[in-house]
Amino acid sequence: MKKVLILSASPRKNGNSDILCHQFMKGTEEAGHEAEIISLYGKKIGFCRACYACFRTGSCVLKDDMEEILDKIQGADVLVIATPVYFLSMNGMLKTTIDRFLPRWQDLGGHDTYLIITGHDGKEGLSLAGEELTRIFESLGDRVRGVIWGEGVWQKGEVKGTKAMEEAFRAGQSI
Ligand SMILES: Cc1cc2nc3c(=O)[nH]c(=O)nc-3n(C[C@H](O)[C@H](O)[C@H](O)COP(=O)(O)O)c2cc1C
Repeated sequence: MKKVLILSASPRKNGNSDILCHQFMKGTEEAGHEAEIISLYGKKIGFCRACYACFRTGSCVLKDDMEEILDKIQGADVLVIATPVYFLSMNGMLKTTIDRFLPRWQDLGGHDTYLIITGHDGKEGLSLAGEELTRIFESLGDRVRGVIWGEGVWQKGEVKGTKAMEEAFRAGQSI
């Protein structure tokens, strides 16, 4: 049994990336694994201050929910990162979270990682977000095993009935 951690960066509950996260989770659970979804908007996560205190002490000066999330990332076998595309890139919530990886950036890798990326554009318009996230997680030492593209979706729930639903479920099953 593998432990799967799904970090969902959209502010919209039951939005397109949230729905795909649940599809992925359904697949993993059917395959007998254990999965947890964390909605980053439900957490208190401040901006990195670039004080570098963590380089000396190993921990962040900000006392918020990030430490718990870092513990969970380190405890997971499989990581799923889900974001809506905002102005061609990952959204700010996700970038803020990734910047806070700094205290443990050398010890966070080793996962099989999947990306869930949604937006109203086609795959070409979403590809920059896929490339940057792939490079970031691979530079941390993860292996990006798959990207689920929730393309052409804007309003909440539009992703239902698209091929991304099946792809998210199958990716979850296949871990
Ligand atoms: C601030 C903002 C910027 C956006 N920029 C883009 C964009 O550059 N490309 C795109 O395809 N969709 C863009 N969108 C649309 C969202 O990515 C799309 O609605 C997505 O399905 C939202 O995912 P969610 O339902 O999981 O929140 C933007 C939405 C917002 C709120």
